[in-house]
Amino acid sequence: MKTPFQSAPSGALAGALLSAALLSGSCASVKPNQLGATAPTQVEVRDFGRTSDGRTAHAYVLRNSAGVEAVLTDFGATLVALRVPDRNGVLADVVLGFDDVAGYEGKDNQYFGCTAGRVANRIAGGKFSLDGRVHQLATNNAPNHLHGGDKGFGQKLWTTELARDEARVHFSYASPSGEEGYPGLVLASVVYSLTEGNELVLEYSAVTDAATPVNLTHHSYFNLAGAGSPTVLDHVLQVNATRTTPTDETLIPTGELASVAGTPLDFRAPTRVGDRVAELDATAAIGYDHNYAVRDAALVSDLATVLGSGPVAVLSDPASGRVLELYSDQPGLQFYCGNFLFAQRGKGGAMYPHRSGCCLETQGFPNAVNQPSFPNTVLRPGETYRQLTVHRFLVD
Ligand code: GLA
Repeated sequence: MKTPFQSAPSGALAGALLSAALLSGSCASVKPNQLGATAPTQVEVRDFGRTSDGRTAHAYVLRNSAGVEAVLTDFGATLVALRVPDRNGVLADVVLGFDDVAGYEGKDNQYFGCTAGRVANRIAGGKFSLDGRVHQLATNNAPNHLHGGDKGFGQKLWTTELARDEARVHFSYASPSGEEGYPGLVLASVVYSLTEGNELVLEYSAVTDAATPVNLTHHSYFNLAGAGSPTVLDHVLQVNATRTTPTDETLIPTGELASVAGTPLDFRAPTRVGDRVAELDATAAIGYDHNYAVRDAALVSDLATVLGSGPVAVLSDPASGRVLELYSDQPGLQFYCGNFLFAQRGKGGAMYPHRSGCCLETQGFPNAVNQPSFPNTVLRPGETYRQLTVHRFLVD
């Protein structure tokens, strides 16, 4: 199956041309008539500490007039904090994270809030063959490759551009050919915008000068009671998908699609996350860590299409009334419920115990590069990878 990668002008090779194609192709698709208008504000820039190789990381604070605040860092194009109101208007930070870049570089970071890539999720044996050549990647989640390898996109310092008078940050990263074993120079970009409608919009794009798999995702751990609250098992989840991609013991999909009916993976009706999770404790996933086949192929990355197709997932916290509606053009949604969190210390000394955050990762299917029946994740020169994902916060 083919994803509808949109064609870029031909002849766009490495360097400036690619960069120009990438930059001109991004950042422009969010129209205020369908979402809340992007909040008119100055982005506040803060120091976020030094990376281990001595570079300065920054934090960028986006605010809207309701007081909603999204904090991003150029390290990993990462969402660091997201303050949204409960039903009484009380703000809480609903994503797990760290106070500075050292935390994000440290061993306790499990992809908190980052942009995972070049290929998010798993590639079997870290190996794939493309146009007759075999490529071997790091097997950093033995025996497989996970989230781009030893130092994926979530561990790189991205280049930042700020929009004037708008709550918007544009991050870009040039991933050289051969990085982590992948072929081709990839220029990737992600734009975060905060709207007056309490929406955090993520627009991704990427171009390449040689065929390569590309699959980006956002890896925030949400806890709508506030990051540091002990569990998300009382949250209620709805996932608008009837099928998942069953896996082997190492979480590589077998290639089948299986119905969720009659299983703990059935979230077609809103269901408490903790109700059936124990049934998965003794499985390979040790809880929720599953890819939902939301649709057979990516949608065109157009806001009207994406919003019009309805939410992929809705997560809510009945106690606070906070609700997250997630919209995306992607074929897959990895629902991962913090099975590996181990009470590490995060922002302000908060503790993040087992299952105290859950990720809703919009993406292509895991290991798609090795599974021809899955929606295509291979990007070729002249094409542009796109993804549009909207996080809309409401109360009930
Ligand atoms: C993903 C994977 C999980 C886990 C987390 C990071 O979402 O599916 O198995 O590796 O990332 O800890």
